[in-house]
Amino acid sequence: MTRTILAVAAIVLGASVALAQAGAPHAPMGPPPGPPPPYQLRPAYPAGDRTAAGGNGKVLFEAHCGYCHLAGGMGTNLVTKQQMMMGRTPDQGLLANRTDLTADYVKAVVRGGKGAMPTQTRVDITDAELDAVAKYLGKAG
Ligand code: HEC
Repeated sequence: MTRTILAVAAIVLGASVALAQAGAPHAPMGPPPGPPPPYQLRPAYPAGDRTAAGGNGKVLFEAHCGYCHLAGGMGTNLVTKQQMMMGRTPDQGLLANRTDLTADYVKAVVRGGKGAMPTQTRVDITDAELDAVAKYLGKAG
């Protein structure tokens, strides 16, 4: 008899705990309201022939490299750290601000990868697009 009462009490207690949890308010799920941060906003790819020469390097850089190399991107975070360790200012974490990059170096990093940066194939960015991006970033020649 005592066992039965204990068992029933346990079931009632368990059920009420479960009900209380089900009704309890919980932390909201999903991203916070408002626009996503800039590095998550990929500009639309420029329309037209991706293999044609003479594209706009800035637009192509932001479209193809921006999700890592605009403000807040993981590439920017890493390069900022590297630049600061070399005694440079944090704004040098943005590749667009650098004056020490050459076009050939940019192309070599893009096609070969570097450390945490994955290789970018000709599907990711065509040779013609990379020429324009390398010209835009390669302010040291
Ligand atoms: C998936 C993220 C990602 C993408 C996409 C990406 N990068 Fe990077 N990039 C990185 C990271 C991370 C580093 C730092 C690598 C390291 O040293 O470990 C880096 C480093 C570089 C460097 C070297 C900077 C230095 O000081 O030596 C260059 C140049 C560069 N990226 C150019 C580009 C260009 C141009 C594109 C677009 C075609 C691009 N990256 C796309 C993540 C990315």
